[in-house]
Amino acid sequence: MGATGVSTPSTRKNPSVPPSTATWDLEPHTTGKHLVLGRYMQAWLPIMTRWNGRVLFIDAFAGPGEYSGGEPGSPVIALRALIDHRAKNQMRSEINYLFIEKDGDRCERLTQVLNSLSGQLPPNCNYKVINSTFDETLTDVLDNIDHQKARLAPAFVMIDPFGVSGTPMSVVGRILENPKSEVYISFMYREINRFKRHPNFENHLDELFGCSEWRQGIDMPDGNERKVFFYNLYRDQLKVNGALYVVRFELYAGEQLVYAIFFGTKSLDGCDKMKQAIWKAAPFGDFRFRGGRLGQHTLGEDFVDFRLLEEALKREFREKGWQNIEAVENFVKSDATDFYSGHLKRKTLTPMLGNGKIEVERPPGRRGFVPGTRILFR
Ligand SMILES: C[S@@+](CC[C@H](N)C(=O)[O-])C[C@H]1O[C@@H](n2cnc3c(N)ncnc32)[C@H](O)[C@@H]1O
Repeated sequence: MGATGVSTPSTRKNPSVPPSTATWDLEPHTTGKHLVLGRYMQAWLPIMTRWNGRVLFIDAFAGPGEYSGGEPGSPVIALRALIDHRAKNQMRSEINYLFIEKDGDRCERLTQVLNSLSGQLPPNCNYKVINSTFDETLTDVLDNIDHQKARLAPAFVMIDPFGVSGTPMSVVGRILENPKSEVYISFMYREINRFKRHPNFENHLDELFGCSEWRQGIDMPDGNERKVFFYNLYRDQLKVNGALYVVRFELYAGEQLVYAIFFGTKSLDGCDKMKQAIWKAAPFGDFRFRGGRLGQHTLGEDFVDFRLLEEALKREFREKGWQNIEAVENFVKSDATDFYSGHLKRKTLTPMLGNGKIEVERPPGRRGFVPGTRILFR
């Protein structure tokens, strides 16, 4: 593959088929991926720069930086999260952005787009564009770090390929070995499902999953069961390779699933912030985006049923006696639920208390669910 240098934009029917042009049309589901990325970066930047001398954003499949209609690509969204951040002047650490792009024409376009933004960047931020592949570049970076017996700076690594090749679990695992690194990966399920029996795909899928067990999913007759099997295997492999929490959401075009995004982290707060970012972009329980329905970009439903969180809390804690509020909060922040910590107190525990579903003991003279509160789930 590779861009031809022809500047006519391409309109693509299938996101796993690479366009032949340097830029292509923005598809509605892509906006979901970008909204969540932008929101998460707004939360990530002030937290990470508070505690670390240097932080790193790696866009490992960066693209040209813009779509054919001039809409921003992921590199611009990530830089804008800093440029437009209210707290950017309080961020003292060095903020490095690394953009990796295999295609020469897209690299050139990206460099032009980024140069037009560079005057707005704070002095502690720099960026670099590398014309190479994810696999080779990250292997070099991580080999160098190993050689120096050092650790990767806290890093958010976006891995956004067109297909299933070039994103080996072995490299993802080396990223996740580092204590403060996170991955945000497009998992091209439609392509996996379509080509799972094709012999040319075997190597790609072995590399993608980092194991051979994906073959057990090939003949599952039920489409949903098969999808859940592949999702769970990928989640489990991210965990085997270093993630403590894995969150995912799906991007739809109309009724059709296009792909899923998997986020892996070791940080409970990172997991919570990612779920919050997803909810803010698509405030409904199963984290789907349904782009392009009736030509509209539909980003969610108005109704959220917090009884699902009630049920999850009861299942987790009913047999466990009195619980500190912190333990309950940590459960909600984790990947054990789709909900995030902002859903817990006013939206769920307060109604549960009103309905007699929990008992509460508070520190003397205190109200609400302050630290020191204990809860018994009935
Ligand atoms: C889905 S697009 C990225 C879109 C971009 N992340 C965004 O959201 O605006 C994938 C990009 O990865 C590039 N690419 C393909 N294989 C690659 C590889 N192995 N390493 C790095 N870049 C690659 C393609 O040229 C393409 O520009």
